[in-house]
Amino acid sequence: MKIGSVDLPSPFAIAPMAGMTDTAFRRLVKRHGGCGLVVTEMVSAEGLVRGIDRTLEYAEFTEEERPVAVQIFGGDPEKMAAAAQIVEGMGADIVDVNMGCPVPKIAKHNAGCSLMREPSHAAAVIAAMAKAVKIPVTVKMRAGWSDDQKNAPALARMVEEAGAAAVAVHGRTAIQSYSGSADWDLVAGIADALTIPVFGSGDCIEAEQVIGRLRSGVEGVLVGRGVLRNPWILAQARDIAEGRAPREVTMADRGRFLLDYIELLKQERVREPEGFRHAFESPRAKTHDRWIVNKLRALGSWYTKGLDNGSHLRTAVNAAESLGALHDIIVEFFMEATVAAR
Ligand SMILES: Cc1cc2nc3c(=O)[nH]c(=O)nc-3n(C[C@H](O)[C@H](O)[C@H](O)COP(=O)(O)O)c2cc1C
Repeated sequence: MKIGSVDLPSPFAIAPMAGMTDTAFRRLVKRHGGCGLVVTEMVSAEGLVRGIDRTLEYAEFTEEERPVAVQIFGGDPEKMAAAAQIVEGMGADIVDVNMGCPVPKIAKHNAGCSLMREPSHAAAVIAAMAKAVKIPVTVKMRAGWSDDQKNAPALARMVEEAGAAAVAVHGRTAIQSYSGSADWDLVAGIADALTIPVFGSGDCIEAEQVIGRLRSGVEGVLVGRGVLRNPWILAQARDIAEGRAPREVTMADRGRFLLDYIELLKQERVREPEGFRHAFESPRAKTHDRWIVNKLRALGSWYTKGLDNGSHLRTAVNAAESLGALHDIIVEFFMEATVAAR
């Protein structure tokens, strides 16, 4: 399938997740196969335009992640157009606009899901961006702001007319946040009505569900929390789509993923010839190791869901204070348990 002129090798994508889907995580998921598109964590258009280091850091990606969409948030058409040009200049394949974030810090600035409450303004943002860049401009929205304002079908048509090359819809309202379930009938209706590709998002935890949603009529599926629980879910979905049994993932595979993630994070955000542009710096984590420990804790809260003894692992990861301790916990839980079971 294609978004504008960009070829996607598969219709399954990693949904953007702030704080979670960093470049290291995306690369590892991509290496396991089945992933047709990655989207960066959302970054501020204002921060990009002002050249703020941390914003640029969040927008970074590597060649092996392509095709890559950089997601930006903001509400001012001129600033969003300028930010889109920066994203294009960074070499991104696609620039995506966040119209789904319900968090007050974002929404109160006329950005994120607030844009859904002002459809004409939202369309003006897309028109300004589409005029400013050659790369495709895409939109990620929710079903609407609230149950009585489920305007995604109308807004999706408006942004299509304004020049959007694809739309992704998470079938919940901003008020719902993550409660209840995603309305996939609404998403399928939008896919039916639009000419551009429509991606659906919400509640795919098993590879079979990803396939079921694809068959409901959308052109692609964005998987969020399901990828954090099972980074192989996109590869398994492609297995099923191509008529194979979904690949088996062993405990040792799962342990290896976490160790590989730690290794990639170790090489990141350090000033080296081939490394990232910005030196590691965080107001909360005083050292690079500490930053990695925090990253593993964040992933651990999702990754351990559904595992036998997952809560035990989660507690251990949260208590680990060093990379050495983390390494030992992972080896003991995933690798040694596997050997003992044989
Ligand atoms: C921790 C977290 C962070 C998220 N951050 C973003 C974001 O930066 N931009 C965005 O468009 N959606 C974001 N989302 C929404 C997801 O992209 C996705 O649409 C939603 O979680 C529903 O899909 P899922 O059930 O597969 O997770 C986030 C979701 C989670 C759980």
